Amino acid sequence: MGLFELNQVFPVATVLVLALFLGRGACDSICPDGITNITGSSGSLVYPSSGDYGVNETKCWKIEVPEGYYTVGYIYRRYEIEPCDDCKCDYLQTSSSYNALHLTTKKCGRYSAEYLEYLRLARGPKAGSSGRNKRTLYFRFVSDDNVHHKGFNLTFVAGSVSGGLETYLNASDDETITFGTPKVGIENYPRSYAQQWFLIVPEGRQIEINFDTFELEQSENCKNDYVEIREASISLYDPRGMSGSFEPILSKRLCGSTKPRAIQSAGNMVWVQSEVTATLLLCTRDSRLLLKQVREDCPSATH
Ligand SMILES: *[C@@H]1O[C@H](CO)[C@@H](O)[C@H](O)[C@H]1NC(C)=O
Ligand SMILES: *[C@@H]1O[C@H](CO)[C@@H](O)[C@H](O)[C@H]1NC(C)=O
Ligand SMILES: *[C@@H]1O[C@H](CO)[C@@H](O)[C@H](O)[C@H]1NC(C)=O
Ligand SMILES: *[C@@H]1O[C@H](CO)[C@@H](O)[C@H](O)[C@H]1NC(C)=O
Repeated sequence: MGLFELNQVFPVATVLVLALFLGRGACDSICPDGITNITGSSGSLVYPSSGDYGVNETKCWKIEVPEGYYTVGYIYRRYEIEPCDDCKCDYLQTSSSYNALHLTTKKCGRYSAEYLEYLRLARGPKAGSSGRNKRTLYFRFVSDDNVHHKGFNLTFVAGSVSGGLETYLNASDDETITFGTPKVGIENYPRSYAQQWFLIVPEGRQIEINFDTFELEQSENCKNDYVEIREASISLYDPRGMSGSFEPILSKRLCGSTKPRAIQSAGNMVWVQSEVTATLLLCTRDSRLLLKQVREDCPSATH
C-alpha cells in the first residue's frame, strides 16, 4: 500500500551515495525546469490536465498552506504512473524539504479512480501529509522516454491542530442544545485551555452557528486565542472516531472582537476547535446552533 505511507527517506548510506553522484550535475539537478508554486488552504494539483504525460519530463510543485495551520494533508484522486521495478521508469516523489525531494522513495503504479474513491470513503480525507509543523510540501514527477499514462490528480487541504477535551453534541430535529465551558457566564475562561466540540444533527440537515457575542484576544493570524470551525466526519474504517482536522474549512481561525457572521455547514457534522482561552455557549433551535463567546477579562463575568 505504498501510496499511503508517510514520506520515507532512503537509509543514510544511500543518501550519501546519491548526494555525491548528483552533486556533480547541474547547479539544480532536482528541479531543472523550476517549481510551480501553489498556495491556499485547499486545492488540487493535477498533472497533466488532459491526455498522457510526456517524454523525459521533470516537473516540480510546491504547495504551501497559510500560517495558523500545521500541516498539508493530501489524497490522490487519480494515480496512473507507469509501474516498473523500484519505480525506476516514471515516478513521483514527495517531501516537505526541497533538498530531500530527490532522495525520497519513488512511487509509481496504477489505481483506478473508483478504487481511490473507495479508499477515501473508508479512510477519510487524508492519505499522506507533510508532517507536523510543516506547512510546505513538494512534489517531483519524473518520466522516461517510453510508456506514458494519465499521471495524477491530488487534492490537498491544510490540517488543523486538534486538542483538548472532546465534547459530542447530538441534536435531533427541533431540539435546542446549550453548551459552554465550565462556569460560562460565572467565571472567565482559563488562562490555558483547549476544547473541541463535535456537533451532529440528523442526516440531511445542516448546522448553523451564530455568534452572539465574540471577544477574544486579538493576535496576528490569531496565533494566541482562537476558535476555528470545519466540517466533521466519521471514518468507516474506525466508526468510533470523529474528526475535523482535515475536513472542509468552514471558518479559519477567528479572534478579536469583531463578531463573525453566521456559519453554515454543508453536511450534518461540524467540528469546533477552541484553543487557549475561550468560553463558549452554544444553543440549537431547529438544528441551528448559536455560539456565544465571552472573553477572558470580561468585566461583568467576575468581580
Ligand atoms: C516558487 O517559489 C520558489 C521559492 O520557494 C522560487 O524559487 C521559485 O522561483 C517560485 N516559482 C515561481 C514559478 O514563481
Ligand atoms: C481532480 O479530482 C477532483 C476530485 O475528484 C475532481 O473534482 C477534478 O475535476 C479533477 N481534475 C481533473 C483535471 O481531472
Ligand atoms: C530521453 O532520454 C533518454 C535517456 O537520457 C534519451 O536517450 C532520449 O533520446 C530522450 N528522448 C527524448 C525524446 O528527448
Ligand atoms: C447522534 O448522531 C449520530 C450520527 O448522526 C446518530 O447515529 C445517532 O443516532 C445520534 N444519536 C442521538 C441520540 O440522536
